[in-house]
This record gives sequence, structure tokens and C-alpha cells, in this order.
Amino acid sequence: MSNFDEIVEICKRRGFFWPSFQIYGGSAGLYDYAPLGTILKENVYKIWMEEYLKIGAIPYDSPSITPEAVFRASGHLQRFADLATTCEQCKSSFKVESLLSNQGINLVPLNEDQAASLLLDNKIRCPKCGSFLKNAYNFNLMFQISSNGNEKLYLRPETAQGIFVNFKLLLTYNRGKLPMIVIQRGKGFRNEISPRQAIIRQREFNMAEVEVFIDPSNKSPFYPDKGEVITLLSNNGREQKKDIEKAFEEGIIGTPEHAYFMEVTLRIALRIGIDRNRLRFRQHRKDELAHYSSDCWDLEFLLDEDWVEIVGISDRGQFDVKNHQNSSGQNMSLGENGDIIPKVLEPAYGIDRMIMAILSSSYNKRESGYKVLSLKEEISPYVLAILPLQKKDGLTERAQELFNALRQIESRILFDDSGSIGRRYSRQDEIGTPYCITVDYDTLSRNVVTIRERDSQRQIKEVPIESLMEGFDFLNNPILQKFE
Ligand code: GLY
Repeated sequence: MSNFDEIVEICKRRGFFWPSFQIYGGSAGLYDYAPLGTILKENVYKIWMEEYLKIGAIPYDSPSITPEAVFRASGHLQRFADLATTCEQCKSSFKVESLLSNQGINLVPLNEDQAASLLLDNKIRCPKCGSFLKNAYNFNLMFQISSNGNEKLYLRPETAQGIFVNFKLLLTYNRGKLPMIVIQRGKGFRNEISPRQAIIRQREFNMAEVEVFIDPSNKSPFYPDKGEVITLLSNNGREQKKDIEKAFEEGIIGTPEHAYFMEVTLRIALRIGIDRNRLRFRQHRKDELAHYSSDCWDLEFLLDEDWVEIVGISDRGQFDVKNHQNSSGQNMSLGENGDIIPKVLEPAYGIDRMIMAILSSSYNKRESGYKVLSLKEEISPYVLAILPLQKKDGLTERAQELFNALRQIESRILFDDSGSIGRRYSRQDEIGTPYCITVDYDTLSRNVVTIRERDSQRQIKEVPIESLMEGFDFLNNPILQKFE
């Protein structure tokens, strides 16, 4: 089993995520977040939002269902499509770009004719049945949904448009000031031709998008300065490890705001526990840029052998606001003469992919073969588990009592009395709980407990319960430090 498959197996068995609607045979590209994954996801969102509120962002929440006029103006109706091919033999469909890249051909065909020629010239076969693939066609990735009347409605493929259409209201809320950073979390929907890799490529997914509106007539208010060194792969094929600020100064990164939000993004990725050594920023080739983008740096994570995009930081310029102004007839500009259209930089975070990157970064196996998720305390679904040593002599009742009391201080706390104590420790290790508190006979006689730390497996004995009760701040004062 690959590392990825092992993690997915733990996630399904322990309750991080499950394929949706399984009793009816499931549906490709749809996953439920199970109880542990639901908490983990909220923890990621909380940190993302905190980091953006700290730099003055304003949050927003618009509907997933969107009228056609919005996506006509944004260009999604006409251009948000993949070139697809359907096998004439087995009727399976595939994205042409993925089939080509599996053969080491990294380019995005320009149109249906070129896509079909590339399939034929390179003798590309159907991955399912082995027949040669011949045809190619444009496949729009938006889900159209029915409405009662004549209005055509779509499920949004990005949350961004809900912000762009209300740019003027948001600007008034922001007292007319630019720059303005608007953030929105929510679901996105794409009719993926071949959903795969569990929560990596889904049809309904969790997004966290940021639209940074900047006055193009002023000097950029954002400048990188954190000294973060990271691998940068430019679209000329040059790869180098560099400080992001230096990369901007040397012209590798085009604008100061792009470099600044690359720093913010890296900070968030590291804070949630993604392994720095498996991260890089990769600049899009011209032929892979989205229709609205003039430059894009993806933060990519190395998952087994593949680099996977987890965040895209795109320069959308004036594209969206200008198009909505033209299409709606509403004035969306500002400035004394009402002639300034803001430019926009967009860091767009794929929350599900970030979660997979967190899980993969924290997954390890002990020599004994036991599996551990070394999740950061801030991120793990539960911080603490209360375990009675045995299920007799009143230990369960005392442990339950302690659980009820500590739950008032820390809500991410579990009680577990099933199976042996060894099994319970390994269950907590597998779901990433950093600390276990064991209630034993000393607890009954002297009110002390044993604390066990997940990664080192060290046990600290004789910890007085009353010291736990004194408003213990589990997140900021790791238990072990307190008693060492
Ligand atoms: N808004 C960025 C994206 O759709 O990927």
C-alpha cells in the first residue's frame, strides 16, 4: 500500500471521512466528513480565518446557487471547461490533459482538434479497457440545476464571484478604503470528468478564498518581509530555494502583493502542520492559466510521488470587476472621477487538499508497526483522552467524573473505556490525540493521574488532579512542560 492509501484506510476506519451514500452504491467524487474529520476541518478553517483577520480581512458568505448572468460575465459559462475524451469501446470518459501528462506530455491542448490529434499521434489508450482514444470535446465543469421558472441556475465553481458582484457594497462597508481583503469559506462544485484520490479531486469540495482589492493607481500596500525560504519553480523551468522577498526583488515573483500573500499562505500551511520539506511554489505555464488569470503561483504538496496543488494564488487583475460592471450596467469603479477599477489578487485555498497534506505530513509508523498521526495540538480533533486503567474497582466511574470536570475546561476531550489500555493508547495515536490521562488506583487513593504523550510515548506519573483543574490551558501550555 502507498503512504496515501494507508492514510485513506485510517481515515475511513477511524472516522475522518467516508465515501458518501454508500448504502446506495456511492457516487463518484462525493465524500462525507466523518466526526473526526469534521472537527479537523473546523480547526483548519479557524486558523485560516484567524491569520486573515489578523491582517485586517473582512469575512463574507454568499450563496452556492448562482444565476447564469454572473457566470456569463465571469467567463465561466464560455470558458470553464476541460477537454475530455470518451472511449468508444467502454464509454469511460477522461480529461485529455491528465492522459497526456501520464505519458509525460505536459501541455494543455488549445482546442478540440488539437486534443484529438495529440491523442491519436501519441497512441493514447483508454486506461480502463486499453482501446485507442480518438475523440475530444469541450466539457463545461459547472453543474446546472433546474429552477421553477425560466431562470438558469448553477452551483458555483468558486466562491469568488459572490464577492465580486458585491464589491461596491463591501467597499462601502469598508468605508470606501482600499486595499480591502475579503475572505469567504464555502463549498465549490465542479463536474469533474474523473474524480479520484479520495478527497483530493471531488465534485463538491471545501474552499477558502481571499479576494484582495487594490487601487492600481497607488503603490502596492503589500510588501514581503518575513524571510521565508522555500523552493520556487518558475514557469521558465528554473527551480531554486529562495527567500520570497529576494525572489520578488529579483523579478522572479512579479508583484509585491503576490509575494506578500505567498508568505501569508506559507505561514498558514506551516501553522496547520504541513511539512515544509514537501512544499514548493510553482508558477503556472502560460498555457495552463485560468481564463481570468495573468499569473499564478500554486503552493504544491508532495503526496507520495505527485505534486498536488493545495493553494492557487492568482493575479486576476481587473478582469472580474470590469466584466461585472460591463454586464450589469452598474458602476463598480471608484476614485474622484469614478474611473478606477480595482485590481485583484486571489489566494484560493483547497481545504480538502490541505487536510490531506496535514494527514500525510503527520503520518508515521512506529518500529512496532503501530500507526500514528502526529497532528499539532491546535489541529487534532481531540486534545486529550481520559482512560480508566481497567474497567473495575470504581476506576471507570472516577475517570468519568474527571472527564465531566475537564470537559468544562477543554471541549476537545474524549472518554474511552473499551478494550485494553494498550489498545486505547494506539487508538488515540491513530486519531492524533496528543495526550492521554490514565486514571488508576493512585487516582482513587491519592487523586493523582498519569499523563502519556503521544509522540514520545513518555508517561508522567503522579500529576495531581487539582493542578489539572486550575484552568489548565491545554493549547498554550503543553501538559508535559508543566510537570517536567
Ligand atoms: N477561485 C479560484 C478557483 O476557482 O480555483
